[in-house]
Amino acid sequence: MSTKRVFSGIQPSGDIHIGNYMGALRNWVAMQDDYATIYCVVDLHALTLPQDPARLLQARLRTAKILLAAGIDPHHSMLYFQSQVPQHSELSWIMGTLASMGHLGRMTQYKEKEDKGGQNLGLFSYPVLMAADILIHRVHAVPVGNDQTQHLEFTRDLVGRFNARYGDFFPLPEQISPPVGARVMSLQDPSSKMSKSDPDPGSRIIVTDDADTIVSKLRRAVTDSGREVAYDLEEKPGISNLLDILAAFTGRGVAQLAEEYAQVGYGRFKDVVAEAVIFGLQPLRQAYLNLEDSQVKQIMDEGARQARTRAEETMTALRSLIGLSD
Ligand code: TYM
Repeated sequence: MSTKRVFSGIQPSGDIHIGNYMGALRNWVAMQDDYATIYCVVDLHALTLPQDPARLLQARLRTAKILLAAGIDPHHSMLYFQSQVPQHSELSWIMGTLASMGHLGRMTQYKEKEDKGGQNLGLFSYPVLMAADILIHRVHAVPVGNDQTQHLEFTRDLVGRFNARYGDFFPLPEQISPPVGARVMSLQDPSSKMSKSDPDPGSRIIVTDDADTIVSKLRRAVTDSGREVAYDLEEKPGISNLLDILAAFTGRGVAQLAEEYAQVGYGRFKDVVAEAVIFGLQPLRQAYLNLEDSQVKQIMDEGARQARTRAEETMTALRSLIGLSD
């Protein structure tokens, strides 16, 4: 196994959908063979929007269970809840002292959430905590969907500032995104990304949805004018999104799929996509149903113990580097 380290995180702010799965989770699982992998349910990030305590507690556990069901193997990967490793927050404070306010204010995600009435310091400094998540383990790569590109650039900027001041301490983390599925769009509005927080549940397929639900959500998916199945992001964004989903779930090329299904009609095509998604998610759904809450809690506690030890190694070195200890 390579000693290259990988970190990524997911918010327990709703149900995990096929965008999360295709853009990130699937890669997380695959990377376990070649990297030292560290994955985190970032529950502190979820607090940037109002959360009901009882529901948050459930969502954290459900998110952890989905990661395990998807194939994150605690013997290969470190897996834990962010809030159980306080070094993330300590490093976040330190990195915040190097962060540019102007840069933070330009983040798309911040501007979108601010527009929706979410205004708090945590939302503004969200990317600093995300940088700390990545840097606390001094990782080399971060598997994420395309919507995280700005945050990764911000992290790299912080690394540059820190290393310029204190010497070469943090590696420059690289973004890893899949060739297909790095930006899955909403089934109801193909001009916006599929999102956990979209008020319309018909906009997304949850990875634990049963077969009937998947069929019905896909049948209701917004398509475009015309009849031909073709990949055309301008003229046919709805059908192109379904082609991307089909490509990701079958491992086949978009061009080849478009040719094969060009003339079958939208209705039949949607059923083909549904079949592939149901088949692809079946093992995850089964594993999810078989996992006990108590097992998941135990795995997460053990992961946090390991992560605290590792994170403390970074913090010990860093405190001494910046003059907080000798
Ligand atoms: P989150 O919880 O919104 O999403 C988790 C992962 O899923 C990807 N993703 C998508 N990929 C393709 N199509 C979509 N429609 C789609 N929606 C989401 C995201 O890119 C992400 O990889 N800020 C992060 C969480 C985070 C993090 C980190 C990630 C906190 N600290 C450190 C990496 C490293 C977020 O909100 O992800």
